Amino acid sequence: MDFLQTAKQMALEAGAMMKQSTGKGFAVQEKGTVYDVVTEVDQGVERLIRQMINETYPHHRILGEEQMFEQELSLQQLLETEIADDYLWIVDPIDGTVNFVNRIPGYTVSIALAYQGELLVGVIYDPMRDEMFWAEKGKGAFLNGVPIRCSSTQTLAESVVATGFPADLHGARRAVVDSLGQVALTCRSVRVLGSAALHLAYVASGRLCAFWEYGMHTWDVAAGVLIVCEAGGTVSDIEGEVYSLTTENVLCSNRHIHSLMLSLLK
Ligand code: IPD
Repeated sequence: MDFLQTAKQMALEAGAMMKQSTGKGFAVQEKGTVYDVVTEVDQGVERLIRQMINETYPHHRILGEEQMFEQELSLQQLLETEIADDYLWIVDPIDGTVNFVNRIPGYTVSIALAYQGELLVGVIYDPMRDEMFWAEKGKGAFLNGVPIRCSSTQTLAESVVATGFPADLHGARRAVVDSLGQVALTCRSVRVLGSAALHLAYVASGRLCAFWEYGMHTWDVAAGVLIVCEAGGTVSDIEGEVYSLTTENVLCSNRHIHSLMLSLLK
């Protein structure tokens, strides 16, 4: 099986596990604060994906959201040791855990593969809508097998954009709230769907024109970054610098409104 097929297979199995557990009783734990939660399903899905990667590619490294919580490592520590590794799988078992806990559709599994820091494969699967978005470097982006492109919208007044509310209330969430007013008063509308991966997938498929958020983790966005780029969009940090796997403040867009969004956010 090639990398993309493996990623898609893992996403399907993860999605089945998420769907099966939806609305059922499961343990929910706080990750340091009441604003950041993890369920036993997140942990189970990550274990499943890790097992599949270890069986198929025993020499590849894995960066997973819940491993960081369980091992009490900081993201910086993980990235310092793992980002330069040859093959690195980057896994968010459930992106949109708060939606999942509240039985609100809009949670995804997000899986990316990077080689020496460069994204090769990205897969985002929304099991409740059975929508799988994927991309392979240089080979385009797809939704359930159909090629997708970012929108061609050129003005902010015609743009529907999205953001999210990170768990870090005083740093990243404050920055989102501070930027929201200007964006909301300029763009056609703003959506907060509760999953960064879904926002990126929707920018890639032309449903949204842009997405910005502060304080992102690599696993929230890595797969989506490749999918957006392969769909003709642009991804940078909020200052306009090129995206890298350590970028935390992310802006992605259909490319046409990128500099307009950068100016609004400055
Ligand atoms: C969260 C979601 C949410 C975003 C948060 C992320 P998680 O990821 O992507 O949309 O606003 O910043 O942490 O915790 O559900 O994997």
